[in-house]
Amino acid sequence: MFTNMLTYLFGLAMVAFRTQHVVPDLIDTVPPNLLQVKYPNGTVMLGNELTPTQVQNQPTVHWPTEVGALYTLAMLDIDVPNHTDRSDGNFKHWLSVNVPHSNVQFGYTLANYMSIHPPKGVGLKRYVFLAYKQARRIGGMDPDDSVDARINFDINAFAKQYDLGKPMAGNFFQAQWDESVGDDE
Ligand SMILES: *[C@@H]1O[C@H](CO)[C@@H](O)[C@H](O)[C@H]1NC(C)=O
Ligand SMILES: *[C@@H]1O[C@H](CO)[C@@H](O)[C@H](O)[C@H]1NC(C)=O
Repeated sequence: MFTNMLTYLFGLAMVAFRTQHVVPDLIDTVPPNLLQVKYPNGTVMLGNELTPTQVQNQPTVHWPTEVGALYTLAMLDIDVPNHTDRSDGNFKHWLSVNVPHSNVQFGYTLANYMSIHPPKGVGLKRYVFLAYKQARRIGGMDPDDSVDARINFDINAFAKQYDLGKPMAGNFFQAQWDESVGDDE
């Protein structure tokens, strides 16, 4: 009974993926598990607002894992250039593959965590974390932290290419410009 209630409440919470249109803007189904994301001064929780300062450095992440399995972790800005005009695709903020036990430090990082720089005047943007269980170890790719490699990143094509299936965990937050970002953009 208690477990049923928790499952029900969890389901309600995960509805945020639909109400804030991460489903279907990025993925077509709600991930079955919550991906825990903690920054030193802020926790990501299904669309809550965090400031660019709060998310400046790489967070700690956790998701339910199976012994011996490897996972892919991605963080994406899905509102590029902004929430009303998403024509520039998704921006890859972080991508790590072959991650055991959600220990990203033991995975193979293809793009290091990059802090966010939401432009001034465009309002809130959505930043999404996804974890996929891999069918096998992923090889044959070199890390690339350049902006060129980050823009217009298609996580669904990547998932298809490497047989990742659907994300098994997810979470997201929203953020907007503040003074810490500066006026460059
Ligand atoms: C944590 O973030 C909040 C919101 O930006 C801010 O008000 C607070 O001062 C921050 N606390 C620390 C210890 O940085
Ligand atoms: C979103 O970006 C487009 C293209 O740069 C721009 O024309 C539009 O004004 C922006 N919308 C908002 C709300 O900033």
